[in-house]
Amino acid sequence: MIYLWLKAGHIIFVVFWMAGLFMLPRFFVYHQEAAAGSPEASLWVEREGKLLRIILWPSLVAVWVLGLALAYDIGVWAHVWFHLKLALVIGLTAYHCLLASYARALARGERQLTGRQLRLLNEVPGLAAALIIVLVVVKPFN
Ligand code: HEM
Repeated sequence: MIYLWLKAGHIIFVVFWMAGLFMLPRFFVYHQEAAAGSPEASLWVEREGKLLRIILWPSLVAVWVLGLALAYDIGVWAHVWFHLKLALVIGLTAYHCLLASYARALARGERQLTGRQLRLLNEVPGLAAALIIVLVVVKPFN
C-alpha cells in the first residue's frame, strides 16, 4: 500500500517538474525578445524566479525523495534499468541547475545563448523523459 502512495506522489511531482522544465526555456526566449533593462524584461525575471521557487525546486526535491524511497521500498539497486534511469535523472538534474544559473545570468542582463539555441535546448527534457519512462515501464536490460 505504501508503495502505491509513494509511486502516486512520485508521478505527480514528475509531472510538475517536467512542466516547469518545459516552460522555463520558453520564458527565456520571450525574455530575450524584450529589450535589456526594460520593464518587460524585469517582469520576465520575476516570472522565472517564481517558476523556479514555487514549482521547479520543490518538485526536484520531491521527485528525488519519493524516487529514492520507492527504490528503498522495492530494492532495485541490482537492476541495470535502474542505474541507467539514475544516470539520466542525474543528467536532468544537471540540466535543471544549468537553467537556474541561466536565469541568474539573465537577471544580471547577460544573454549568453540565442533564441535558436534556447529552443534546441528545450528538446533535452522531452528526450530524457521518454528514455526514463521506457526504462522504468518496459525495464529492458532487466
Ligand atoms: C530523481 C530520481 C528518481 C528515482 C530515484 C526514481 C526511482 C523510481 C523507482 C524506484 C520507481 C518504481 C519502479 C517500479 O515500481 O518498478 C519509479 C517509478 C516511476 N518513475 Fe521514477 N525515479 C526518479 C525520477 C523519475 C523521473 C525524472 C521520471 C520521469 C521523467 C520518473 C518516472 C517514473 C514513472 C513514470 C514511474 C512509474 C513506473 C511504473 O509504475 O511502471 N522517475 N521511479
